[in-house]
This record gives sequence, structure tokens and C-alpha cells, in this order.
Amino acid sequence: MLPDREAASRRHTPEALLARYQRVRRTTERLCSTLVPEDFVVQSMPDVSPTKWHLAHVSWFFERFVLEHFDSQYRRYNESFHYLFNSYYFSVGQMYARPKRGLLSRPTVAEIRQYRQHVDEQMQELIMRRAGDPELVQRTTLGLHHEQQHQELLLTDIKHVFSCNPLLPAVNSGLTIPPEASAADLTWQDGAAGIQEIGTNGDDAFCFDNETPRHRVLLQEHSLANRLVTNAEYRDFIRDGAYSNPALWLSDGWSVISQRNWQRPLYWSEDLEHEFTLAGQRTLELHAPVTHISYYEADAYARWAGARLPLEAEWETAAAQREIDGNFLDNNVWHPVAGNGQFFGDVWEWTASPYTAYPGFKPLAGSLGEYNGKFMCNQMTVRGGSCVTSREHMRASYRSFFYPDARWQFLGLRLAKNAV
Ligand code: AVJ
Ligand code: FE
Repeated sequence: MLPDREAASRRHTPEALLARYQRVRRTTERLCSTLVPEDFVVQSMPDVSPTKWHLAHVSWFFERFVLEHFDSQYRRYNESFHYLFNSYYFSVGQMYARPKRGLLSRPTVAEIRQYRQHVDEQMQELIMRRAGDPELVQRTTLGLHHEQQHQELLLTDIKHVFSCNPLLPAVNSGLTIPPEASAADLTWQDGAAGIQEIGTNGDDAFCFDNETPRHRVLLQEHSLANRLVTNAEYRDFIRDGAYSNPALWLSDGWSVISQRNWQRPLYWSEDLEHEFTLAGQRTLELHAPVTHISYYEADAYARWAGARLPLEAEWETAAAQREIDGNFLDNNVWHPVAGNGQFFGDVWEWTASPYTAYPGFKPLAGSLGEYNGKFMCNQMTVRGGSCVTSREHMRASYRSFFYPDARWQFLGLRLAKNAV
């Protein structure tokens, strides 16, 4: 017990918190170090935010929920930024319309970098001044996990922006391209059945409110695939005529693929031979996990394969037995790679579970209660993180969520089936 507690107090020294703060903030800067000012402004669809908006919004989050919280005399860097860079917190004020974020040529990228620097200086001063204040540690840690969520969004958003450019530029041409690997053969692993527990077990230094409280669930006998569904498998599904066979699709899914004329994953070429990646256009790697598919496509694939999607409780019960290891942002590949296991990293896995409150869930108090809870309607839970998630941001109990028609994130699937 003791060594753990010592480690915990070391983690919370002001120096350690500041070091962590600076590391996460620097990572954000590094992710856009290959971009030029023109890249920072474009918004290719309402779900996508311009890079510079992300850079400003995460700083606004620290300013509004940490700096202002601890100092009633705190003077905002720029009053208009509180309107422009508030995302969705109505309890702190009105905000600029999300779909119009791409119209903001001002403030400039340089001005936003100055804003970041100002917030960094203020945060550094506050962290050292209020050394060890548990609420400061909590709010700063939340701000850092928030920034890590936006690091992932920043990359998936700029990927979408670049994919709309016929030149198909690379977001980053210095990424590690791993040697071609093969996927493990598909096998089935029995999941735990009966009464299980999911939700945070309190061992992690941080979790979001939507992972609480830990509670019991009842799992039926089932098994989970040992790995993710691959591009080769998904291409067989396409070549079998799946996108023109209504019998495979949920009604909502059939409407969406018909109306939007979807015939393949978001970034695949028409000949099913190439895909757009953060390193530019590449040959489709057949053994790598399929990605950039909607819930509807994941569900239809599972049906075609004679299987189903896992429930989030099945997924978490299996994942909690494993190391948090995999192909993460830290690996500098920024694209899923062929493998085995892959509960963590590579692609977020669609589950068949709607994103709803756990029994007894209470959102965070105050304005931060708007962070997760109010989105608990009409979205599906996704699990495990992706190739652009930071390793230290991931946990078995982590729940992310997207609307079932979302495809621009690194979204893929693992099959599940009932015991026969
Ligand atoms: C959990 C990824 C759905 O994109 O709104 C960012 C993450 N929350 N800022 C989102 C988030 C607040 C969230 N997702
Ligand atoms: Fe945010």
C-alpha cells in the first residue's frame, strides 16, 4: 500500500502536475507542427472544427474552468474569446455557432498561439501558488484529458479537411510506416457470463463522470473475436453486394447509405485498392483493421458475418483483464495496423450499447456537468481508443460516443456472438 501512496503523492506534487501540463500542451503543438497557416482555418463539415479553433478552445477550457474558478479577480485574456471558443456550455454563456467555425479568419493563428502562451503562464503560476490543492489537481487533470480528447479530434478533423482536397496531401509525411504485418487468424474467446461489474474501479488516477458509478450487470454466455475486423474481410462484404442488399441493414442504416450513396468506408478509393491516411493516399493494407465506418456499417457487417456487435459491458469485462497496450498516438503511426488482441488503440470499437447513464450516474456539479451527461441520447458507445489516442488517456472503463452515422473518427469493430 505505502509505495502506491507515495507514488500518488509524487504524482500530485506541483512540479509533477506542471510537468504533465506542459507535456500535454506541447503534444498539441507538435500535432500541428507540419501544418501551414492556411490549413488551420478550414472547416469541411459541421462535425469538423478548424485546427485553430481546437487550439483556442482547449485554452479557453483552462481559462474558464480553472483560472477563473480559483481567482475571482482573474481578467480574461480577450472577452470575445469566451463567445468564440465556448463549445457547448450554455450555463457559462452563449456561444458562436459550431457550423460557422470555419469562417473565423480572425483571430489569427499567431494570436491564438499568444493566447495559448498566456494561459500557460497563468496556469504555471496557479499550479505553483496553490501547490497540492486537490480541486486544482482535479480540474487541471480534467483540462488535460479534455485537451487529449481534442488532440484526437484535431487529427481526425484535419484528416477530413485534407481528404476533401483533390491533391490528397499528407497531414504528416514523417509518420512511422510499420512493415506490412498479418492479422491473427480469427478465433473466439469465451467472455465472462453471469453477474459482472463495470464502471471505474477507482484504481485509475482519473476517469470521466460517465464511467461512474461502478455497478453490476448481467452477461449472457458469449464470445468475442480475438481481433478486429480487417480490410480484407470488409472488402469481401462489399464485393458480396452488401451495400445493395437491404436485408443486411437496420432501417435507419439503409436510409442513410441510400440517401448519401455510401458504398464503402469513408476514405476508400472507388476501386477498393487505396485509402486516404494521415500520411496521404496509400495502398489498402488488407490485414489492417477496417476503419472510418459508421455504426450502421459495423452492424451490417456483423450481421453478414453471422455475428453481432459486443455490448459495452461484454467489451469492458474482457478488456479489464488486459494491459493498456496497443497502437496509440505515441507510436507515431496514426493509422491502424494488423495484429492480434487490439482491445486498446488502433480503432474505437462500435458497441451495440446506446450511450446512456449508468444506474446512479450523477453529472459533475456546476457547469462541468454539461461535459458528458447531456449527450446521453441517440448516440452509441465506442470503446478502446484509437491510433490517435494518447496511451495515458485510455482505461478499460473509458466510454466515448458518437452518432450512428459518424465515420470521420477512427471507428471499427470486433465481432461478438452468443454461445450456441
Ligand atoms: C467524447 C469525443 C464525443 O467530441 O464532443 C471534447 C469529446 N468533450 N470536448 C466530443 C469532448 C468535450 C467528445 N467525444
Ligand atoms: Fe471540448
